[in-house]
Amino acid sequence: MRSRPVIGDGTRAAPGLPWPEGAVAAQQPEWKTHPDYVASRAALASAPALVTAAELARLRRALAVVAAGGARMVQLGDCAESFEETGADHVRAKTAVLHALADELGGDGPVLRVGRIGGQFAKPRSSPFEDVDGVPLPAFRGHMVNGEAPSAGAREHDPRRMVRAYEASAEVLRVLARDRDRRAGRRPGPFPDGPWASHDALVIDYEAPLVRTDAGQRILASTHLPWLGDRTRAPGSAHVRLLSQVANPVALKLGPSADPGELAEVCALLDPDRTPGRLTLIARMGAERVADLLPPLVAAVRARGHRAVWLSDPMHGNTVRAGGVKTRHLSAIVDEAVRCKRVLEVAGEHPGGLHLEVAASDVTECLGGKVDGVERLAERYTTLCDPRLNPDQAAELMRTWIRA
Ligand code: PEP
Ligand code: CO
Repeated sequence: MRSRPVIGDGTRAAPGLPWPEGAVAAQQPEWKTHPDYVASRAALASAPALVTAAELARLRRALAVVAAGGARMVQLGDCAESFEETGADHVRAKTAVLHALADELGGDGPVLRVGRIGGQFAKPRSSPFEDVDGVPLPAFRGHMVNGEAPSAGAREHDPRRMVRAYEASAEVLRVLARDRDRRAGRRPGPFPDGPWASHDALVIDYEAPLVRTDAGQRILASTHLPWLGDRTRAPGSAHVRLLSQVANPVALKLGPSADPGELAEVCALLDPDRTPGRLTLIARMGAERVADLLPPLVAAVRARGHRAVWLSDPMHGNTVRAGGVKTRHLSAIVDEAVRCKRVLEVAGEHPGGLHLEVAASDVTECLGGKVDGVERLAERYTTLCDPRLNPDQAAELMRTWIRA
């Protein structure tokens, strides 16, 4: 087995790593003095890979078809997965929603199905603290890092949670693999539509020890499709360096601060060979800004010869506060998704599909459809982090998007 890559202090890359000294990793947990830090990373380094090079080859083939305009794609699931919801019943409920929404989007055509699932346990936060009744507590950063309960104890960063995240992911990925096998058996064909796993490859202490060599390729063995969030996609970051070294396809979130020149740099690092479908670019600009901000990014990527999959995340740029909670209006979500589609069509790019936060149950976290007033938000508001669409709201979005 490949020796364990070691990150010096959790925020700066150590010498001797595949990524250069001095690469800064934003949004990392503070836990390197924890007594279980070293043992937790060692446990990950000696654990079995969660994905295989052969699976990644199939996913890359499907993404190339999407990039060429021959299929659509949906990537959806929880904002933050819960350790309490990784059993087979939970996972089957989530994949059922993924398939139903993919079918809604695709009609009779092929749709690549990717979950925010099987590892989506770490969250970037805009503030390291959260005010709870006037007391500042460390922010909840996902079950890989801490607990969501509003107490100082729960919010401590605990590296042993990385091992639990690995085990929970393994459980989820086994169910996804069975689902893929069943689907492939039922509908033999050249398009390997999934379901595949994806998550924000945020915590370097978790991801780096899970790099493996398989079939002569270096792979990130924690997931099929790692993505980098809007706060960790800078060209010099440890995150970009890590993903530039692995054979997995990779995705990037692009928020309003994304700059065409900087994006071109990142794309060159992550896709030096201009492989169609190697990159999935996910615009999350906000409904009011996407028409202005996206065209120069699309042009910059195309001018450098990359054939990317373009998705719209119409959720993260449209978060508001109402009724004392974070929420999103379905109308704004639909607006951004439709505007993004239009920008891509005008630019001559294939609108690949949608990246969404959707719950498997009938939650009341976003406004719209049957959630017809702020007072209804409290009925079933169960997200660990951002407000998710319920399946009915998401289906309405899909139907509007395909007709637009
Ligand atoms: C997310 O997808 O939950 C997220 C935090 O996204 P972004 O990095 O785009 O803000
Ligand atoms: Co989110």
